[in-house]
Amino acid sequence: MKILLTGGAGFIASHTCVELIEAGHEVVIVDNYVNSQPEAVRRVEEIVGKSIRVYEADVCDKAAMNRIFDENAIDAVIHFAGLKAVGESVQIPLTYYRNNLDSTLTLCETMAAHGCKNLVFSSSATVYGVPDEVPLREDMFCKGCTNPYGWTKYMIERILEGVVNADPEWSVVLLRYFNPIGAHASGRIGEDPNGIPNNLMPYITKVAAGQLKQLTVFGDDYNTHDGTGVRDYIHVVDLAKGHVKACDYAAGHKGCEIVNLGTGVGYSVLDLVKTFQRVNNIDLPYVIGPRRAGDVDACFADPRKAREVLGWEATKTLDDMCRDAWNWQSHNPKGYKA
Ligand code: UFG
Repeated sequence: MKILLTGGAGFIASHTCVELIEAGHEVVIVDNYVNSQPEAVRRVEEIVGKSIRVYEADVCDKAAMNRIFDENAIDAVIHFAGLKAVGESVQIPLTYYRNNLDSTLTLCETMAAHGCKNLVFSSSATVYGVPDEVPLREDMFCKGCTNPYGWTKYMIERILEGVVNADPEWSVVLLRYFNPIGAHASGRIGEDPNGIPNNLMPYITKVAAGQLKQLTVFGDDYNTHDGTGVRDYIHVVDLAKGHVKACDYAAGHKGCEIVNLGTGVGYSVLDLVKTFQRVNNIDLPYVIGPRRAGDVDACFADPRKAREVLGWEATKTLDDMCRDAWNWQSHNPKGYKA
């Protein structure tokens, strides 16, 4: 298949690009590089030994999107593009709603006009909000999100359900990601956040590299086995392979499916810290600080539907995730800017 990746230079997208090409698909990328680097695509090309067609454009730009579909016979789209910083979304909500919703609407209109109706969407476990119980199942009622970023994911899911409802020719897979970490085993591509990272693993790798003084563990009084927050960390390469399966599924089915991509296993902040120290044989200074607003005790997936519907399950361990994250960081101290 010829698959368009919106936001194709990003962390999850670049890893997905590798897996799609290695599975025999052709990839076209559109990215405006607001939160990514062209170098990521160059490195993907290096890993797969093929060149990739890239358009530098905003998915909200209808003329640009039309041109991409006119110039390429796209069979399916994976829609990764979007603003994704939880804290920032609280500060500039309109920017988040405008960008994330507008880009999705423009994309769907362009797809429909070109008769391309297979879409895989990057959603997030954030749509579950504050859960009553874990593990989280796709059919659980979402009681509401805790920030505008989460709401954009929630709203886009509902928009896409409406699109499928109105036109049963569409095939949409809504992938709810849990906590993707790690990097490609080559150490050539990985996560490269702007500025000081908000998320745990990129923060840990920067402390390990000596670029940040210490990790602050946000709270040790949660209702978990050691008091620190529990999450479902998933290796980004496992997650990428889930997208290949989702594209295959979308090509052979109609309708809309919501699918969790997680391991089903929850690890605490301190589990991650200790594993990182052990597998990489590196010291990681940390202090216990107060809770971060909006964080929940525990969040992990029920991964059964992914197995049943997509034939996919995560195979990599927390050791793999910690080793590969450090391999990327230690070989690329300044990320792609080096
Ligand atoms: N944490 C720390 N110190 C830090 C950063 C994080 O202790 O410096 C803790 C958090 O309190 C939490 C855990 O590490 O317990 C994971 O935090 P992350 O920020 O890495 O991830 P979140 O689970 O908060 O959020 C992630 C994504 C969101 C997504 C959400 C879905 O960042 O985009 O998962 O559940 F919406």
